[in-house]
Amino acid sequence: METRKAHCLIFPCAVQGHINPMLQFAKRLQHQGTKITLATTKFLFKTLQEVSGSIAVETISDGYDEGANEVPLDTYNAVFQKVGSESLTELILKLKDLGCPVDCIVYDAVIPWALGVAKSLGLRAAASFTQSCAVNKIYYHVYAGLLKLPLEESKVEIPGLLPLLASDLPSFVSTYGSYPPIFQLVTHDQMKNIHEADWIFCNTFYKLEEEVIDWTSKILPVKTIGPTIPSMYLDKRLQDDKQYGLSPFNPMTNACMSWLNERSTSSVVYVSFGSLAELDAEQMEEVAQGLRTSNYYFLWVVRESESNKLPKDLVKETPDRGLVISWCPQLEVLAHKSIGCFITHCGWNSTVEALSLGVPMIGMPQWTDQSTNAKFVMDIWKTGIKTQPDETGIVRRDVIHECISVVMEGEKGQEIRKNADNWKDLARKAFDQGGSSDKNIKDFVSKLIQF
Ligand code: UDX
Repeated sequence: METRKAHCLIFPCAVQGHINPMLQFAKRLQHQGTKITLATTKFLFKTLQEVSGSIAVETISDGYDEGANEVPLDTYNAVFQKVGSESLTELILKLKDLGCPVDCIVYDAVIPWALGVAKSLGLRAAASFTQSCAVNKIYYHVYAGLLKLPLEESKVEIPGLLPLLASDLPSFVSTYGSYPPIFQLVTHDQMKNIHEADWIFCNTFYKLEEEVIDWTSKILPVKTIGPTIPSMYLDKRLQDDKQYGLSPFNPMTNACMSWLNERSTSSVVYVSFGSLAELDAEQMEEVAQGLRTSNYYFLWVVRESESNKLPKDLVKETPDRGLVISWCPQLEVLAHKSIGCFITHCGWNSTVEALSLGVPMIGMPQWTDQSTNAKFVMDIWKTGIKTQPDETGIVRRDVIHECISVVMEGEKGQEIRKNADNWKDLARKAFDQGGSSDKNIKDFVSKLIQF
């Protein structure tokens, strides 16, 4: 008699930086024999440009099926919780009626009410954190009242972390009062019920954040399941797993890869600020000038919604040196031999991808967790440098030019490259047979089946 497979419903927050890591986690679970359904919002599903891979996708309503562009975030969160809980419940009941009952909801930690939905239906729940363990730890300290806000000192000491300046902390903590609904979510709501979760997962790997993970494990049973990037860039055990596969953006793959194929080894500076960050026009101008004067080839992703800020003359003045595109297959780009360094906002996925592919970074954090990630890149993992903005918050062209020189040339650049190679190796080992993340995923699956 065939035994029924355990069924996990994966529920990421509907933005690219959260979908990618949870989708990869889902693929690993599926590979281990778990049935997977990924739930996302009706609106996001309608806007997807890229849907590939073997993961079944179902939709729920967040209350804004036609989009929530102008809706204040606190209103959105309240409506999402109310309508989303009902809609998620309906989906789970529908799957049960169809003969595919769900055993466990693997929910994005920033959708904490999903845990309540799971419990009300008698299901188990696993929280999945898509940011670094260090960042989660800082939020936990705020939640537990161990880090008082607004900050009274310019330096912060948190056990298990290196001493941090205020400017190294996540923006919601350093700039107290910025984005109150997100602050409430990350430092309170996602922590409040976390002790009720049956499992807690984090997109990181043991060696990367050893000390923080050991500390956190004493309070919460956190398990590492990263780096959550497609298998073909790591252990290569999932032969079809070469890209993420769900995206509201359309990558200009041919244009970009054939341009890179023409470039020599380590000759290109790749620039991207992820899927959400909006740069000031002045900052765009400084990046453009830094790239123009640096004399290296550059590939710059400027999303369509940002393109009106792009200095008009940049590509005209540097026709053979630069390519500006609206979206690229970032993993393929980072893995290309022509890439010499990555000017990045240090979103957690971009950071983990660059670490896993051995690419040196120049961190230009914009907001949220990025400043902390950039600090770790520079001072803990030593695979890059963090740019210093001036007193108006803008990173100037000469700073960008200088950082490119440091990373692309000379002794410091070589040291960074060596460290980057080492992390690449350790990232792969975490997912190889018997690696720390591989073990944690297998352990989860075996417990799901026992239930
Ligand atoms: C957001 C937050 O900003 C980030 O700080 C947080 O850690 C996760 O959620 P985002 O800003 O989009 O994400 O940055 P990042 O985490 O780097 O995720 C972007 C993803 O889009 C990456 O997986 C990257 O590979 C992908 N990407 C980016 C592309 O595929 N093509 C591109 O051209 C640019």
